[in-house]
Amino acid sequence: MRNIVVWEVIPMKNRNILGSGYAVGNNTVPNQAFESIIETNDEWIVSRTGIKERRISTDQNTSDLATEAAKKAIANAGIDLNEIDLLVCATMTPDNITPSTACLIQGKLGLQDKTMMAFDISAACTGFVYALQVASYMLADYTCALVVGVDVNSKIVDYTDRNTCILFGDGAGAVIMKQEATEKEMYHYANATGDMNGELICPGLPTHELLKNGNHEIGYLYQNGSEVFRFAVKALQEAVEAVLEKAGKTIADVDVLIPHQANIRIINNVVKRMKIDEAKVFTNLHKYGNTSGGSIPIALAEAMEQGVIAPGMCVVMVGFGAGFTCAASLVEF
Ligand code: UT7
Repeated sequence: MRNIVVWEVIPMKNRNILGSGYAVGNNTVPNQAFESIIETNDEWIVSRTGIKERRISTDQNTSDLATEAAKKAIANAGIDLNEIDLLVCATMTPDNITPSTACLIQGKLGLQDKTMMAFDISAACTGFVYALQVASYMLADYTCALVVGVDVNSKIVDYTDRNTCILFGDGAGAVIMKQEATEKEMYHYANATGDMNGELICPGLPTHELLKNGNHEIGYLYQNGSEVFRFAVKALQEAVEAVLEKAGKTIADVDVLIPHQANIRIINNVVKRMKIDEAKVFTNLHKYGNTSGGSIPIALAEAMEQGVIAPGMCVVMVGFGAGFTCAASLVEF
């Protein structure tokens, strides 16, 4: 475990998450659908991952799912669309290399004439928590942020690779966060570890040394599953402990824990190690698989929709992903 240096922590005040929304791929793909493509079966997938089905988008690109989630978040927050002056989108499967997916969402929302900042963040499955943190710091200068986490993983998944293809799905989640007077507090922790071994990588463009050695197919996601698993368990615990330390709270103070929805065994491992009350852990990976950037905001939006998160509750969101990256945010609702 790394030593976390926690200096005097000033809580972030006057940041309020007002609403959320989500959208998932239109096509439901159960585990059984893989049995005719690769050597696998439903029992293996459920017992090793907890995933029963995932949603694959047949005609919606990343900005489409993101815009659908954003529209729901705007309606749920009850804000005027034109209040948004900051748009941060976390994705590793953008529509294009440029322009950013954030700019496409801005256009699809009809905000092209609005003076605002819009940009993407690349932090894989940790992306939404990074984006939320960046937006909350930027709300010192801006007033109303739309924060989106989205991935259409089916664009980069190799459906002949049984180590990865059964895990991933497509989806987007979004929140509206405003700068306004509130006593509610927020605390953030984030880390990146500069992985150079390509343990979780999608080369995409021929810019990576490994491509010259023919180690990865261009454009496909590759992972060393057990290495990622090991990192994930360590990182989730590290991030939750660090953010709790910053907030001066213990795990008992947390009402709802929203971990990155990658594998139920990763989550259960951390729950056991940290002696977390299982009833406080929100999961939906059995329905959606791992939606990468979409994972945490979809779970957050579903938890809010189902009344699992209510005003006054203390919520911790925690993610890990390629980079390797990890981050946790503690938010009082
Ligand atoms: O957002 C982050 C994204 N990545 C992750 O979260 C991945 C984290 N890692 C994992 O979730 C797990 O490591 C996996 C689900 C990928 C794999 O589970 P595991 O329990 O770590 O299995 P393993 O890699 O140790 O493989 C055990 C066996 C192997 O066969 P042999 O070598 O023992 O004959 C694999 O080839 O399971 C085999 N296997 C499969 N069998 C049936 C791997 N994938 C499959 C499959 N169906 N889909």
